[in-house]
Amino acid sequence: MKLAAEHNWARKFPELGTGPISVEPCVSPEYFGKEKEKIFKRVWQKLGRVEEFPGPGSWKLKPMPIWDTSILLVRGNDGQIRGFHNVCSHRGNAVVWGDQPYGRGRHFFCHFHGWTYDLEGHLIDVPEEEEFYDTFKRCENGLTPVAVEVWEGFVFAHLDPNPETSLADYLGEAGDRLSGFPYGEMTATYSYNTILNCNWKVAQDAFSEAYHVTTIHAGSFPKGFASKLWDVTMIGPHHSGAVHMTDQGEPTPVSALAHRLATSSIAKRGERTELPPMVNPNRNPSFAFELAVLFPNFLVHIMDGLYFTHQFEPISVDQTRWEGIQYFRPPRNAGERFSQEHGQLLQRNAWLEDTATMEATHAALKSGAKKAMHLQDEEVLIRHCYKVVDEYVNA
Ligand code: FES
Ligand SMILES: [Fe+2]
Repeated sequence: MKLAAEHNWARKFPELGTGPISVEPCVSPEYFGKEKEKIFKRVWQKLGRVEEFPGPGSWKLKPMPIWDTSILLVRGNDGQIRGFHNVCSHRGNAVVWGDQPYGRGRHFFCHFHGWTYDLEGHLIDVPEEEEFYDTFKRCENGLTPVAVEVWEGFVFAHLDPNPETSLADYLGEAGDRLSGFPYGEMTATYSYNTILNCNWKVAQDAFSEAYHVTTIHAGSFPKGFASKLWDVTMIGPHHSGAVHMTDQGEPTPVSALAHRLATSSIAKRGERTELPPMVNPNRNPSFAFELAVLFPNFLVHIMDGLYFTHQFEPISVDQTRWEGIQYFRPPRNAGERFSQEHGQLLQRNAWLEDTATMEATHAALKSGAKKAMHLQDEEVLIRHCYKVVDEYVNA
């Protein structure tokens, strides 16, 4: 393979190759089954943030279709966040019912026959306990735990309650080099989610390159960003790269006003502060934002003074729940509030542009018309993702 001068990433990451990428991993139910068993059930998954658990007894119910279960996360009286399957030890009823994803209480009460669990998952009350036989022991019938660990305020869980790899070891140097950003101070959030009829990788790929910005984002960010990536880094299964500004974008009068009032948009260059080592590592002045992906499906987009996360949660080979959250510092005045509302709406519009491609792309891939995708040099993060997924699937 002959590489041209502009093929920076193929030179830097020769192990990724340059050939076409098979579409099979996006459309094959068998491949999806392997992803489920060999990736998602064996790696750490982000389920929330510590701010969602303000005090003892605060809980969150998180459906995890890729684990075939729902996880009940709860902060105990000792302050620790734990996770359990939302499955009663008696006859398997869901302990927490309904559509409410959040709540707060002193215990969990199963509505079927009244078995009760404390915040640490212990079974503390069984009505008519004397009717059970000596094969039943209360102390052996607490809620089934999953492992829970926290990185930079993000609450991760592992389906195995005693995983071989700690969260810190799993994130490794990528976790270290994305640490230190004031994530916990950015508690003003705007959250969007939807179910997309596409494979999780089709959705995630659309957020893993800047090749599309001049076309797809011509509406929300005309001429604002370069189509190349800077400072691409790969650390084990994780990776990151930066998107830069062109300085050719002309803000609308409203955007210009919002930019004057605060830094609340990726289209506004902020002050060069508070960035972790992996974000704009060379402190390039045209830096706009970092696209970091913690394998397999947790994206953190970091820029000056704000950050976004995306998650692409697989439901089936053809369906994905996408959640995008924007995090800002709580506004201190009306001007900052206006700026944030403007910034988050601009970003929401860009996300609508991004998500608009996904379902049609997936349907087209399923048609069988094309067997492979051709990725260019600047789509190197996508190439890395497919390689890592394949390594897990074939391990
Ligand atoms: S299923 Fe929960 S108490 Fe019977
Ligand atoms: Fe985009």
